[in-house]
Amino acid sequence: MSYSPYFNPELETMSRAELEALQLERLQKTVRHCMNAEFYREKFAELGITPDDIQSLDDVRKLPFTTKDDLREHYPFGLACVPLRDCTRLHSSSGTTGNPTVVLHTQRDLDEWANAVARCLWMVGGRPEDVFQNSAGYGMFTAGLGFQYGAERVGMLTVPAAAGNTLRQIKFIKDFGTTIVHAIPSYASRIYEVMKEQGVDPRRDTQLRILCIGAEPHSEEQRQRIEQNLGVKAYNSYGISEMMGPGVAFECQEQNGLHIWEDYFIVEIIDPVTLEPVPDGQLGELVLTTINREAMPLLRYRTRDLTRILPGECACGRHHRRLARLQGRSDDMIILKGVNIFPIQIEKILLKFKELSTDYLITLETKEEGDVMTIEVELSQLFTDDYAQLKNLEREITRQLKDEILITPRLRLVNKGTLAVSDEKKAVRVKDLRKLF
Ligand code: COA
Ligand code: ZN
Repeated sequence: MSYSPYFNPELETMSRAELEALQLERLQKTVRHCMNAEFYREKFAELGITPDDIQSLDDVRKLPFTTKDDLREHYPFGLACVPLRDCTRLHSSSGTTGNPTVVLHTQRDLDEWANAVARCLWMVGGRPEDVFQNSAGYGMFTAGLGFQYGAERVGMLTVPAAAGNTLRQIKFIKDFGTTIVHAIPSYASRIYEVMKEQGVDPRRDTQLRILCIGAEPHSEEQRQRIEQNLGVKAYNSYGISEMMGPGVAFECQEQNGLHIWEDYFIVEIIDPVTLEPVPDGQLGELVLTTINREAMPLLRYRTRDLTRILPGECACGRHHRRLARLQGRSDDMIILKGVNIFPIQIEKILLKFKELSTDYLITLETKEEGDVMTIEVELSQLFTDDYAQLKNLEREITRQLKDEILITPRLRLVNKGTLAVSDEKKAVRVKDLRKLF
């Protein structure tokens, strides 16, 4: 069957002028809608602005920034702009130390989210004939249901395999004729390693042709390795749950930057210190304003992700601008195995144990069995030399850490004075030995 190269030709290929006219209309509507939340009414009053001040796209800079802390402080529903009875889904970040962040969706929001993901999957070549397998975590992880509904919207046979159980993933890939897999990049490498162990040749024994990789920073070399190993084309995916999840930006078949859907978002790149815009092409923090959301629109949300706008037009015919691959964060968030973790979450758990001192070191490494986090922490005094007691303590700390950060760290309890962490404020607490950028 011959298909259009676009899932939504009108919205994907509209000219810049048409796109910007649509953006302004949607921005003005969004700003008026935001006045349903006391949170925004107060912010607007502080700045002395009203929705009528938004007369051009540049006026977006008059609007207040929003941050993760705003979401936390107004947990759980303080930023809702519709009554809760109109909401049909909630996603939340992990962790219990402090408030997690909550994102609400109406049914229309979910439909538009599915449309955005479908557009991305279609863009990289997904068609109703394909079999799509999703190895992201389901539950609260937005990449689970996000890709699920997007792939279904394309009309693909969709396999919600979820995270882990690599042998079963490989069996599904073989038996169901999976052609497209979504995986966190480090897990894509893991799937290949296990295939090798099992004597499975992806080119000979599977019909894999496309990998969607995201939710974790990775280098161009890592992408190429995944492509060569698995015999696929691998496309970079970007999304954050505050914006909805996957579907925010995605590479097209040119594999040169990620088109960010500007009919959903207004894009700014700012200097994270001065908060002023940086010129196109320069690295800065990505700031997004949602212009196609009902339940919880976010104005000028500081994503903390560092990237830049790639200048020039893309050969694929889409005029939505392209982001360079992500270059890191403007805060200390760690992304490991596709899970977002703040060092403070780990510190707060460690501080609960009187057996431990305050000195700890988090090391991130890529090993054959996948990405690993090791936490070394000093005991407060020569706590005990009873091996069984130490093991029990280790088990209990590990359990509480896993509850908090969702992944299982390797824990090493060491004697006081053994870790080379200084008391200075800037003591290095995280050593990232992975080659990410
Ligand atoms: N995606 C899918 N599976 C993963 C994974 C990832 N990012 N990282 C590890 N795994 C697999 C492991 O290979 C292992 O498989 P096995 O059953 O074949 O041994 C299994 O999951 C458990 O991994 P392990 O590293 O021992 O567990 P953990 O306690 O550290 O927890 C996960 C890891 C898998 C639960 C957690 O990393 C996860 O859910 N990741 C997915 C995150 C995600 O979907 N993010 C999208 C962001 S919206
Ligand atoms: Zn393109």
